[in-house]
Amino acid sequence: MDTIGFGIIGTGLWGQLHGAVYGSAEGVELVGVADLVEERAEALAGKYGAAAYTDYRELLADDRVKAVSIVTPDFAHTEIALAAAEAGKHILCEKPLATSVEDCERIVAAAEGAGVKLMVDFHARWSPLMYQARDAVQEGRIGEPQHVYYRLSDRISVPTNMLSWAGKSTVMWFIGSHSIDTVRWILGDEVRRVYAVSGSRVLKKMGIDTADYYQATLEFGSGATAVIENSWIMPNTMPNIIDLKCEVVGSKGAVYFDGSHHRALEEYTEDDAKYPDVFVMPTLYGRQQGFAAESIRHFMESVVEDRPLQVTGQDGLEVTKVICAIEESCRTGQPVELG
Ligand SMILES: NC(=O)c1ccc[n+]([C@@H]2O[C@H](COP(=O)([O-])OP(=O)(O)OC[C@H]3O[C@@H](n4cnc5c(N)ncnc54)[C@H](O)[C@@H]3O)[C@@H](O)[C@H]2O)c1
Repeated sequence: MDTIGFGIIGTGLWGQLHGAVYGSAEGVELVGVADLVEERAEALAGKYGAAAYTDYRELLADDRVKAVSIVTPDFAHTEIALAAAEAGKHILCEKPLATSVEDCERIVAAAEGAGVKLMVDFHARWSPLMYQARDAVQEGRIGEPQHVYYRLSDRISVPTNMLSWAGKSTVMWFIGSHSIDTVRWILGDEVRRVYAVSGSRVLKKMGIDTADYYQATLEFGSGATAVIENSWIMPNTMPNIIDLKCEVVGSKGAVYFDGSHHRALEEYTEDDAKYPDVFVMPTLYGRQQGFAAESIRHFMESVVEDRPLQVTGQDGLEVTKVICAIEESCRTGQPVELG
């Protein structure tokens, strides 16, 4: 049977997950991986019999590669995405698509011009919690949506230990991007006005040049409003790395979910308490499961079977527009209108 070739650019923490999905799928071959750090590229390539490169252009030059995942830090997506489109590869880009509106527009235009698929990995759309909340709203079961509260925050270990590049990004790019996409997807609506504040009194003192948290109020086209909160300074003693809470209040009802206590399995031993992941990216019978893997699998199947994507480059562009407006509002202290 002929296989379809995939590649991965960026083989750090999240690149491993892309590898686990492509590397174990029927009808698909992980042909090559690229990372600036040779040992990292070789480690992932060795697991799945792929070629390892330190220059992503060599991976893009391989005709067997039909599609690539871009899993580099957010500020390093644009150049790679433009080159991948030019090379005629379908693209799954990690969130956010890019950190400026102009860059997102260039990537969307390049993918359209090259006739390649472009998806942004907003994997929350594959979470059963969020899917069913959206269903309740879109089916009209809670009436007209009125107001939303959405909190997605990380333990402080994420900017201080996990991400070496936290000082070149923000919690708004890293997980605020998920929050904004999820709320616009649940409501089926776009943001028209933003008012936001942020605080920077903890991480900067620790030598990490980034904001601690953002609180943003978003007004949508329908008149519904959402308060979005994203913090990078939650205590490391929280049972889960993320703190996720959402409520959507409609004219005739409400939906709530708590994604922080999804770790339904608790394991207590003499000297430790563990809450293993059973929901986001667990492994069962050697197969990568969980909603974070499902979004990657969706892209893979869309390429293999030439099916439409659930998330597009346009979604990535809309989210970046909102984040740029949030940054402007934090800077100026004024509300910002979106075009
Ligand atoms: N860590 C998470 O929980 C998580 C979750 C979802 C999505 N993401 C997204 O995945 C992306 C990567 O995040 P990560 O946590 O894996 O970061 P990471 O630092 O662990 O890995 C990034 C890798 O990209 C490599 N890289 C950087 N520039 C490159 C280039 N020009 N060519 C080739 N390789 C290059 C780095 O050497 C590094 O190995 C980001 O967009 C992030 O938002 C991360």
